[in-house]
Amino acid sequence: MFERPRAGERAVLVRLGLGTPVKREDLEEFQQLARSAGAYPVATITGRRERPDSRYFVGSGKAQEIASAARAENAELILFDHPLSPSQQRNLERLSGVRVLDRSGLILDIFARRARSFEGKLEVELAQLKHQSSRLVRGWTHLERQKGGIGMRGGPGETQLETDRRLLSARMRSVTQRLERLKRQRDTGRSARAQIPVPSVALVGYTNAGKSTLFNALTGSEVYIADQLFATLDPTVRRLSLPGGAPVVLADTVGFIRELPHELVAAFQSTLQEAREAHLLLHVVDASDPRRDEHIHQVDSVLNEIGAGAIPQLRVYNKIDRLQLVPKLERAADGRPGAVWISASAQLGLTLLREAIAERLDLNVSRLWMHLPPGGGAMRARLYAAGVVREERALEDGAIELLVELPAAELAAWAAQPGVQLLQAQPPPASPAHPLPAPYLEPVAEPQAAIVEC
Ligand code: GTP
Repeated sequence: MFERPRAGERAVLVRLGLGTPVKREDLEEFQQLARSAGAYPVATITGRRERPDSRYFVGSGKAQEIASAARAENAELILFDHPLSPSQQRNLERLSGVRVLDRSGLILDIFARRARSFEGKLEVELAQLKHQSSRLVRGWTHLERQKGGIGMRGGPGETQLETDRRLLSARMRSVTQRLERLKRQRDTGRSARAQIPVPSVALVGYTNAGKSTLFNALTGSEVYIADQLFATLDPTVRRLSLPGGAPVVLADTVGFIRELPHELVAAFQSTLQEAREAHLLLHVVDASDPRRDEHIHQVDSVLNEIGAGAIPQLRVYNKIDRLQLVPKLERAADGRPGAVWISASAQLGLTLLREAIAERLDLNVSRLWMHLPPGGGAMRARLYAAGVVREERALEDGAIELLVELPAAELAAWAAQPGVQLLQAQPPPASPAHPLPAPYLEPVAEPQAAIVEC
């Protein structure tokens, strides 16, 4: 049912300055977005007005100008870098005889092209269906909508004989049900992962900042990398080893962008969950981008929107090779690592970054006796499998005590398991087969459970 995009669709680009002149950087980003969707910009029309016109968004003179440019350039598509109401979109299509797509539709289209997992594809399809459902009104079939193309990939493009809303809602219901099933599976997977208490770190950042490149550099895996916006859509999770060998889970997440369509933020709730549940966020910034401060601000506001605003962040300034800088670590006022300057592709500063992550996660290993209740064989097996047990002794009641070496965060997670107690790491008695005398069994204060406060 998914139709392949027609590459190189000729497009006229439109961006107005509302109350202010059009900024060159905004225009460049918009052109890059259009190219990311596979469009070939043949003309760019800019203008300025105080507020959008209700009929065409632009004034009627400007609308004529756009229509003429589309005809002159033989364009198949007009792209607006603004959200359009369904009636504005329809009026512009009637006037020009060419398909019109707004910013939300364009970004949704890019997501549709790039989604890699089944879940990601369904999430985008649902967002597209919602975005277009309000636009499916009779009288729209004057344009050949069966063809597919930018903004029409995925469900809505093909349910073409579609002006039938009934079909569309049936499709939305079916996609929603499949997503709910997948979400249940994902939750099960996540809770299985939570049983092996390993701290998790998520990469976040403005699109094209270099998250996937860094993910590969740190984990040695191959994730799709492209110098295009939004190359990454689905979170990918891998194991990352830090100094001292402490294991950490690293997740790559979707790239953020200004004016991310609301449908998408809602659609990606489940995939963005990896960021929301991380103990530490690595906020990757393209240090060579003149708009880096603005991008940092945009990312922070999306993080707030998805409920991840309070998670501690380590800022990672990437692409220092372009600035001829050397790697460096910056500490915050409280002395903890605040920012690391690196180059993911030139592999500069990665050791510094690993050390900073370990320090922020408080992964310094402690050596403690852990008391497991009778019947705690499965937990014992997990600890042995993790290679953290240094000694063992059995108690008469069937309980076990293990001398383990673990970072504070993991000890906290183990201490939260039913029946588990952490004991002082006193020297064991003469015979390890016997229980320790009472003084040795005093539970220690629980290590800092909330590594999110680090
Ligand atoms: P999205 O998936 O769009 O969110 O992008 P991303 O943040 O995952 O970026 P990605 O890793 O795909 O990199 C984007 C571009 O930047 C690619 O062309 C990389 O080769 C390039 N890049 C990444 N790191 C560096 C770096 O340290 N130096 C330079 N010069 N280029 C880099």
